[in-house]
Amino acid sequence: MKIVHTIADLRTALAPFQRPAFVATMGNLHDGHIALVKQAKPLGDVTVASIFVNRLQFAPHEDFDTYPRTWEADCSKLEAAGCDVLFAPRETDLYPEPQTYKVHPPAELANILEGHFRPGFFVGVSTVVMKLFMCVFAGKPAGVAMFGKKDYQQQMIIRRLVQQFALPIEIVGGDTLRAADGLALSSRNGYLNEQERAEAVQLSQALKALGAAVKSGPIGDREQLEENAMQALAARGWKPDYLTVRRRTDLLPPEASDAAAPLVVLGAAKLGTTRLIDNLEI
Ligand code: PAF
Repeated sequence: MKIVHTIADLRTALAPFQRPAFVATMGNLHDGHIALVKQAKPLGDVTVASIFVNRLQFAPHEDFDTYPRTWEADCSKLEAAGCDVLFAPRETDLYPEPQTYKVHPPAELANILEGHFRPGFFVGVSTVVMKLFMCVFAGKPAGVAMFGKKDYQQQMIIRRLVQQFALPIEIVGGDTLRAADGLALSSRNGYLNEQERAEAVQLSQALKALGAAVKSGPIGDREQLEENAMQALAARGWKPDYLTVRRRTDLLPPEASDAAAPLVVLGAAKLGTTRLIDNLEI
């Protein structure tokens, strides 16, 4: 695996190839990331991963400084997964001057759910993803980028970004990988202590129960069922931001006419100091 830090070296490394298959990460890689790399491999003629902890998507009170950086382990895992090129820019490589041009996704998609509780998050994500796409794919006739479905709203925003800017990139969604008890794999799971780790599965259980309840009753009961689900988690010591059922197409609340529409249950809640997110298509 070739490791490059600058945009110029990345472009040189990718020059012989026509169809990169790309996985963007912030490092601290777990099996979910590695599954994305393995799935990406047959989709392109060169497999590229990036590791970059993107300051732009962290609010000042969030965990940018303490976000786990596990360089050696990440490199070994990527190499074993068959990654060909690892792009690991330093901050000065990707942002040599303040990034004043930014990508602002539409408010109706970016200011709800995660974007409501993390204002500016999707501007930071969209901006860095656009820039990473330019680094990896500029001058290529086509390419593929894989994003995990655990970050459901992020994946949708990136799909729209690619569509709106007519980028010749196919976005492929990777299924969420789960631990044996059902907890969605996440870099932030490493923040949980033993007791919290045992409790953490309750988020996916709550989403499952909420999904089943909404499916089995009139759609008009949805808001009350969501409220009950949040209260049940709160009673166990969680601080839920949202547990909600949305349309898969636009992440808006379903209306009476949407009873048969494809839906997704999304949730975010804090356990101790760790904020976890998860979702389930129903
Ligand atoms: O999902 C992530 O790890 C990040 O949001 C991403 C897409 C790598 C952008 O920094």
